Amino acid sequence: MTEAELNIIDGTPLDMLASRRSVLAARLDDPGPDEEELQRMLDVAVRVPDHGRVTPWRLQVLSRQAQKELGDAFAEEFTRQNPGVPEDRLHLEWIRPQRSPVLVIVSSRIVPDRDGVPPVEQLLSCGNVCFNLLHAATALGYGAQWVTNWPAYNENIKATLSIPTDDHLVGFVHIGTPKGPPQERQRPVISEVVSRLDSLP
Ligand SMILES: Cc1cc2nc3c(=O)[nH]c(=O)nc-3n(C[C@H](O)[C@H](O)[C@H](O)COP(=O)(O)O)c2cc1C
Repeated sequence: MTEAELNIIDGTPLDMLASRRSVLAARLDDPGPDEEELQRMLDVAVRVPDHGRVTPWRLQVLSRQAQKELGDAFAEEFTRQNPGVPEDRLHLEWIRPQRSPVLVIVSSRIVPDRDGVPPVEQLLSCGNVCFNLLHAATALGYGAQWVTNWPAYNENIKATLSIPTDDHLVGFVHIGTPKGPPQERQRPVISEVVSRLDSLP
């Protein structure tokens, strides 16, 4: 695929990888990707390392209506867990899944007894799907953020989405047009996280 086909917004693919950063979901606005762009993003998202071709992930693309219904479910569950929660706090929970034009939910579908492919590897592959989705959104000129928070770990919310108990809700990936340039954040000092081995320690 040529660079033009990849529609890299600025510079080379490496420039994009080196400068990509998340845009907070609250700063993602309309327009979202159109159907063709979204399809391209999804194609890229699942182009990930997947030991044993288990395809241990599932993606759900929520329409605005589905996002609203999910917001209702978040608010209901949050109220159940926090009776008497103030209205403004509840609004934050209600709006949580409705902050961007497109919301993609990525969950794991791990095969526990697959020979040579332990569950942790399958979960890592699933994480790659989320990250690749961020890359694809960025490459097409959109902003995106991968979030989890309490709803990702709540069995009632998972049930609302028909995500089985054994599957992990690995990420809510928000995609939209950034309201402004994202702030850069402190990145790790490479020498603190990378060591070079000329012989074994
Ligand atoms: C598994 C996972 C869950 C995350 N959940 C949240 C979250 O719930 N809320 C949040 O603000 N950021 C969350 N983040 C962090 C953001 O996705 C992102 O890493 C951060 O905004 C900085 O992004 P950047 O390094 O891509 O620029 C999560 C990251 C990961 C990997």
